[in-house]
Amino acid sequence: MKEEAIKRVLTELKAQNNFRKLTPLNKTLINLSSNDYIELGNDENLKKQFFQKAQLKLSSSSSRLMNGSYDEVIRLEKRLQEIYGKEGVVFNSGFSANSSIIKTFYNKNSLIITDQFNHASIYDGIKASGAKFVRYHHLDMNHLEEILKKNREKYDDIVVISETIYSMDGTICDLHQLVQLKKQYHFDLMIDEAHSYGVYGYGLAHKLNLVDKIDFLIIPLGKGGGSVGAYVITTPLFKDYIINKSYEFIYSTANPPINNAWNLFLLEKMPTFSEQRKKLQELSKFFLEILEKHQIHTNSKSHIISIIIGDNQKATFVAEQLKQNGFQIYAIKEPTVPKNTSRLRISLNSTLQKEELLHFTQLLSKKLNSKEKK
Ligand SMILES: Cc1ncc(COP(=O)(O)O)c(C=O)c1O
Repeated sequence: MKEEAIKRVLTELKAQNNFRKLTPLNKTLINLSSNDYIELGNDENLKKQFFQKAQLKLSSSSSRLMNGSYDEVIRLEKRLQEIYGKEGVVFNSGFSANSSIIKTFYNKNSLIITDQFNHASIYDGIKASGAKFVRYHHLDMNHLEEILKKNREKYDDIVVISETIYSMDGTICDLHQLVQLKKQYHFDLMIDEAHSYGVYGYGLAHKLNLVDKIDFLIIPLGKGGGSVGAYVITTPLFKDYIINKSYEFIYSTANPPINNAWNLFLLEKMPTFSEQRKKLQELSKFFLEILEKHQIHTNSKSHIISIIIGDNQKATFVAEQLKQNGFQIYAIKEPTVPKNTSRLRISLNSTLQKEELLHFTQLLSKKLNSKEKK
């Protein structure tokens, strides 16, 4: 791209109040934007326990097929197999796992049916696969079934892709219903647990006992997993295919031993974090109730709560005002969310206090009702 064209694009984004900048994290604010939902990545006690034992390399210096399959990652994959009852493959990130699984397993002869609000990494894989794809309305199982009815006979190879909890909406998919449709229409099912791992222990599919019904269970670890990397839970056959055919798996330096030792440490401890999970659930319920009392509308049903404002300028203004009053919060705009649905995304974590959420809601209500935009 020529410099002039780049400048034009950036100027246009500024005119739309949609120019992105990096701002250093202000640690003095109350953080309503952390995805470390049960604060595993920040827990001093856990860190102390971990570092007492950890004397680990900070680089793997090699891809998984060479020196990158060190002890810690092999032990981690073995434990994944024991816990989930299927093979585990460790990827370097959720983005690369999602994107790579789709483009490695599906091609121009496949049909990909995807929830319209699925993550950018899923769309990245879809585009790269060259497959035909159809979006179904967000979480609308009737629409999904309509698409399946129309296409089942036309394609040999169909995959349906959904997330469990949606990052920008806080909505939750009906996993039982997806599995039911799979039984009826015989498609592959790929599920992304980025925002439910940790929050539901080993994830929603594990909690509902549905892991064996899902062909690709993707578990990114950068959120409730308190770490980095991703697990792909799948069949032995598919695992072999990944090891032999996934470019992201084969041609990338493996994450360092220290990260996968931490992943293993948290995996073993996951059942013990029930207090944090309970606290997060209570906070979510409390927050949804006080929002309703203040007549602030949200469609969210989980620990992620989105308040749709619509207008970019107003969303930026409200987020800025809340920041000035002590809360770390961001306005989310297109293309992360559809045009004209700019919003405040509040992600709760188990260390927050009810009084903080009460104070936040009172302020939010005032700012939303104010006529000011800047
Ligand atoms: C639903 C979903 N899937 C995948 C990813 C990517 O995961 P990672 O940050 O590990 O690359 C994200 C993170 O933004 C996400 O929200």
